[in-house]
Amino acid sequence: MLSRSALARVSRNAALRSRALSSRASAILSALDIPTNQEVPGVYDGTWGGTGDILESVCPTTGEVLARVQSASPQELQTALDKTREAYEIIRSVPAPRRGELLRQIREALAAKRDELGALVSLEMGKIRTEGIGEVQEFVDIADYAVGLSRMMNGRVVASERPGHSILEIPNPLGVVGVLSAFNFPVAVYGWNLALSLAAGNATIWKPSNTTPLCSVAVTKIIANVLESNGLPGAVAGLVTGGRDVGEAVVESSSVDMVSFTGSENVGRQVGKVVQARFGKVLLELGGNNAAIVMPDADLELAVPAVFFGAVGTAGQRCTSTRRLYLHRSIAPEFLSRLQALYASLRPGDPLESSTLLGPVHSRAAVGIYSSAVNRLRNAGAEILCGGSAFSETDLVGELQGGNFVRPTIAVPKSVDVKDEIWKTETFAPILTVGVFDKLEEAIAWNNGVPQGLSSSLWTRDVRNVGKWIGPAGSDCGIVNVNVGTSGAEIGAAFGGNKSTGWGRESGGDAWKQYVRWSACTVNFSDEAPLAQGVNFTPTA
Ligand code: UN1
Repeated sequence: MLSRSALARVSRNAALRSRALSSRASAILSALDIPTNQEVPGVYDGTWGGTGDILESVCPTTGEVLARVQSASPQELQTALDKTREAYEIIRSVPAPRRGELLRQIREALAAKRDELGALVSLEMGKIRTEGIGEVQEFVDIADYAVGLSRMMNGRVVASERPGHSILEIPNPLGVVGVLSAFNFPVAVYGWNLALSLAAGNATIWKPSNTTPLCSVAVTKIIANVLESNGLPGAVAGLVTGGRDVGEAVVESSSVDMVSFTGSENVGRQVGKVVQARFGKVLLELGGNNAAIVMPDADLELAVPAVFFGAVGTAGQRCTSTRRLYLHRSIAPEFLSRLQALYASLRPGDPLESSTLLGPVHSRAAVGIYSSAVNRLRNAGAEILCGGSAFSETDLVGELQGGNFVRPTIAVPKSVDVKDEIWKTETFAPILTVGVFDKLEEAIAWNNGVPQGLSSSLWTRDVRNVGKWIGPAGSDCGIVNVNVGTSGAEIGAAFGGNKSTGWGRESGGDAWKQYVRWSACTVNFSDEAPLAQGVNFTPTA
């Protein structure tokens, strides 16, 4: 006799088999070892499983259900957390350069599947092919970086004030790192964390966005192969797919030493409080409300296409997307007419087609968020220069009719008031809000006047403007670019933002230092035991 849940599974699987997956989807899934005729196990802790709620992965381009993924039940989550801790106790004693060798193998395995994984990102998340592949390249790059890092995570020897003493600052592994990633970078953001965390000697448990489970399954399969073939426990890089409850359990678990969370300011605020309340470490990558400022002397040949990519690329769904454009009065009309000409060339398309520049937004909910933000702009009296509405089914052809397509929008509000909702809120959609300024100082004040502080860019050829922009009275963001757009950061520098973006730093620079437990060790090699600061604690007889 089959149990009720087993019966339900059998009938669901039968339903799946009878539903023919499009060849577009099945070719991509098969190339990555993801089953196309049954439910997909979405939990990995050394073995694959998943008996929790079913997550449906829906293609944002066509509306097709790509797969049904078995998420983690509360019990499975607990087991995965326990196994991750056991795996940590093994990986922390593997010498760092050996962990680097694992990362080198992961890097090779990812690079061998770069195009297939990139296609899966396009299929499941909706970003265009070149960006999907670029995202996997970002993981390859950070893995390269971490291979080198594994031989360079140096501590320090500090001069002691006491004779015969040495002080060592030692970076030890931290423990278990929980990575909660967002839908918009379903591969790279995990990659940044995994690469640094593993180099540092930690085990990682990944809770991906519940709308991009297939990307996480495909990536975890590749990493699991490397770990298993090196005789290491798979739970060094565990996976628990699921919804909010699974995320909350990871955040609350005292066996997770650091939580690295990418997502909205609202959820990040909760995550920060919960982890702080149990004195865990937290790394937050939250909202971006990024501005580009264009000076009269800017090279518009460079600036216009960069703003176009920043605002429309990834259908406006990067944390670093350009959302605000501040134009100097003298070049504003010309800039906007050139920008509008580029916008006019956009056609919605399948992100898997190489000619497509405008893919769908990720979900139905995102279409709603886009529409209400446009309405808010309209109600505030903003002029809508282009776009301004979602594509309806009749505007679209063939399979795209089931997709979430919106028109990239340029809006010019009556004035700039950075305390107003229309300026101070991050809307995860291709909406660019434009203001006109007379003085650089005014534009910098607008740039800094919003709660968020992720990315920013100044377009100028005057070195004096550059000095102001990157100095103490300049941009207060974590990313401060000059003649480079707000999005598309390389992995070499630390990535992250200030203020309500959460102050977290990931990827390059000194970001690795957060993934370790620093030990300050004073060692006495002498025959005396003097106290610091000359304190005398000898009893007088
Ligand atoms: C994000 O949007 O969550 O700078 C990450 C960029 C990318 C990463 C963005 N390298 O746009």
